[in-house]
Order: sequence, then C-alpha cells, then structure tokens
Amino acid sequence: MQKKIFVANWKEHKTTDEAVSWVREFATYYTPSEHIIVLCPSFTLLPVVKEQIAKHDLQISLGSQNFPAFDEGSYTGEESPRLLAEYIQYAIIGHSERRTHFLESDDMLLNKVKLARRYGIEPLYCVQHEDTDVPEDVTFVAYEPPFAIGSGHPDTPENANEVAKYLQSKGDQITVLYGGSVTDKNSTTFLSEEHIKGVLIGSQSLDPQAFSRIIYT
Ligand code: PGA
Repeated sequence: MQKKIFVANWKEHKTTDEAVSWVREFATYYTPSEHIIVLCPSFTLLPVVKEQIAKHDLQISLGSQNFPAFDEGSYTGEESPRLLAEYIQYAIIGHSERRTHFLESDDMLLNKVKLARRYGIEPLYCVQHEDTDVPEDVTFVAYEPPFAIGSGHPDTPENANEVAKYLQSKGDQITVLYGGSVTDKNSTTFLSEEHIKGVLIGSQSLDPQAFSRIIYT
C-alpha cells in the first residue's frame, strides 16, 4: 500500500495498565513501514505511552485529542500546547465531539491551529461537512461526518472520496483522511479511493490487533 496515515483516537478510554498492554501487544504485530502512525491517548497517558513506544522501538508518533485555544497562562485545568509539545507531534483539532459538547467555535479552532504552529505541532483538523471552514495552512484534514462517528454506519467510500477531492482542491498541501466507523473490514475500501490518504479510527483503535489489521492489510 502507498504511504498512508493512520490515527488512533482513544477518546476517554484506557488506564495506564491497559495502555501499556496495548503497546506491548501492538509491538508484536508492528512492522516497520513508510506509513505514519499516530496514537492519540488521553493526556494522562502521554508520558507512559511515549516511554513504551521507545521501549519497543516503534516508529509511532503521539498526538493529543485537543488542547486549549489559549497559550500558557492562568487557565486552570487546561493543558497548554507548550507543555504538550514535550510529548506530541500531532493534535486533533475540531473534532465534532468538541464542537458539540464543548461548544468550540471556528474562531477558537483557528487559535488552536495558530498555537499548534507556534509549538511545532501538526494539526489534524476535523471537518464535518465539505463546507466546514478549514483554516489556512492546515495540512491534514479529516473528513468525519457526525452520523458516521461511533454509529457503525460509515459514509460510502465513493461519497467520502468526493468530499476528499473537494477538500483537497482547497490547497496543494492538503492531505485528506476519512474518519467515522472505520474498521478492519472496511478500511481498504476507503484507502483505495484516490483522494483518501489516511483514516482516523476511534473505537477499533482500542484493540491493537484490529488497529494493526487496518494498517497492514
Ligand atoms: P469511530 O470514531 O471510529 O468510533 O467512529 C471516529 C472518531 O470519532 O474520530
């Protein structure tokens, strides 16, 4: 398979022990390749997952699932991107769950993209529709239709490809991923589409074997 990007979004799941077991098991399936693999665990897991990735000598990058729209300062309870940059190379920004449950606006998301750039973090910018705003200079755009997230009902590969084609036409630098009910059974149908260069995986990424099947088939 051509070089692709595989992003695991663990959301609020996994304790430290569970994360350590995940990496240990994933290491048994891991094969070095050109693909970009990004794990996005919860904040509390970043140090231990970073340590485990190094221990097993895996070429896997870390990402956060979010960070605040404010830089380091008096923002009680937040994780500033400057501090996160010790661990992460990527950050999911604008996931529909953030927009819906935490009322994140396009303006806030634009700030987050600027902060990501300031600290050398690559934004994985989520859009819900083809007409969702995409801030300038975003490189990775994930098309994630809300109806497909966690529902077991993905978009069709053909439609996702049409949307990806349109999103890609917004800038030469743009790489489009698809996310929403991606599984080890359907991932190749998306990844064989011309304009889809990667997948963002939620629930199936919690299982290291399923996640590895998505990468290596
Ligand atoms: P899902 O989640 O794979 O469980 O549908 C995708 C996402 O929310 O990024």
